[in-house]
Amino acid sequence: MRSCSIDRPAGWSPGGDSAARKSPTRHRRVEEGNARGDSRRDAQVRDAYDALAPVWTETTADNLWNEVLDRRPIRSLLPVQLTGLAVLDVGTATGTMAHWLLERGAEVTGIDISPPMVQTAQRRCGGRGRFFVADLAQPLELQDSTFDGVVASLVLHYLRDWSVPLGSLLRVLRPGGWLVVSLDHPGSPFSVEHRTSYFTTELLTDRWTKAGVTVDVSWWRRPLSAVVGDFADAGFVLDRLLEPRLSDKDRARFPGDAAGVGDVPLRAVYRWRKASMT
Ligand SMILES: C[S@@+](CC[C@H](N)C(=O)[O-])C[C@H]1O[C@@H](n2cnc3c(N)ncnc32)[C@H](O)[C@@H]1O
Repeated sequence: MRSCSIDRPAGWSPGGDSAARKSPTRHRRVEEGNARGDSRRDAQVRDAYDALAPVWTETTADNLWNEVLDRRPIRSLLPVQLTGLAVLDVGTATGTMAHWLLERGAEVTGIDISPPMVQTAQRRCGGRGRFFVADLAQPLELQDSTFDGVVASLVLHYLRDWSVPLGSLLRVLRPGGWLVVSLDHPGSPFSVEHRTSYFTTELLTDRWTKAGVTVDVSWWRRPLSAVVGDFADAGFVLDRLLEPRLSDKDRARFPGDAAGVGDVPLRAVYRWRKASMT
């Protein structure tokens, strides 16, 4: 089976795969938010990533969806000089970004909801950096104004309500600090195919198989105005927005992943600044 990427739901055929569309797991659900539902979904996300932890590094370290469309554009928005900067890697998974940051001299803290992901990140970084289990839905137990920057790659969309996570991230950033966030593009082909309406914030669910591990994962798709509005309400100012575009070289390098992927927006990568008034 074709290895799929996060957070392009695995098995996604951008050109429209009728078999996939018929799959009972490939559907959208508009859900009423409530605390019980949110904690149940948190547990489902954690279980899914627990199961993926043993295969995460090998299936995502160098691929189209996590490297070319996610980590590469994220890296392009980071300061050139990282030595000595305190950086928080949120949703660190097995620490691929954390390791890259450590190699460049950053002082890295990585957090993730999945214990096996955190253990793998710890092992992989060989005692460098600090890694611990934390759920972004809960206030983070980190001191105020301790980080120069935060990276949050493909993680915030697991949460419906961003007030607590964005409040935590704002609080732990130093004045003028940066926050680089990647999300599925609200106009990605998967969204277009499965959403009710562009303007609805809704839960999309899909099934991924990576190196023989199959999981169902749900994430919240929201329109651009909702993304920008929530960050602005939290006290962030938008500094840069990238819509990574595949080059011919990328397509030649990953012909399997790129097959059927049009010249369309797939991910959105934002750099926010902590507003000086906050
Ligand atoms: C798409 S992966 C992140 C990829 C990673 N940044 C990388 O470059 O390999 C999303 C990660 O977010 C974590 N996650 C999901 N929900 C979370 C939450 N509520 N709090 C903290 N981490 C969460 C998952 O366990 C998973 O490891």
